[in-house]
Amino acid sequence: MGTKAKEIINMDVEEVIGLLNKAFADEWLAFYQYWIGAKVVKGPLRGVAERELEEHAGEEFEHAEKLAERIITLGGEPILKPEEWYNVTNCGYAAPDDPTTRSVIQQNVEGEQCAIEIYNNLIDTVKGKDEVTYKLIVDILEDELEHEEDLQNILEDLEVMGK
Ligand SMILES: [Fe+2]
Ligand SMILES: [Fe+2]
Repeated sequence: MGTKAKEIINMDVEEVIGLLNKAFADEWLAFYQYWIGAKVVKGPLRGVAERELEEHAGEEFEHAEKLAERIITLGGEPILKPEEWYNVTNCGYAAPDDPTTRSVIQQNVEGEQCAIEIYNNLIDTVKGKDEVTYKLIVDILEDELEHEEDLQNILEDLEVMGK
């Protein structure tokens, strides 16, 4: 924990930690959704989809890591039990029951759109009150916007192919 790190925050630190832990749960679930999606996906543009899903999985993992570090700096504890993820998640988890490219990609687009809204709201909450968390969340939001676009580009290509 960083004593001064906590001191310079102009809002309830426990509230920030709680919000970061919710995002932390989202990131782990997003990581797994992408990771398992990359394993099972099949159909048109399978190779492209697989690579993109794998890359996004890696980035969601990095987001989880950065959120955990921030939580610890603020004197909090990142969620220790995976079963807790479901209790606090904002965006949930969508299993790739239908492993075709369009369906898997579409599920992940919805996940990204949820993440974008959550992070955008979080930015409003911490703006001018916790600058370090603010910067972290802006960086993560940038990645999520890129993820949405990458996936929507694949959907566009499927459309052009008539798939
Ligand atoms: Fe993420
Ligand atoms: Fe993402």
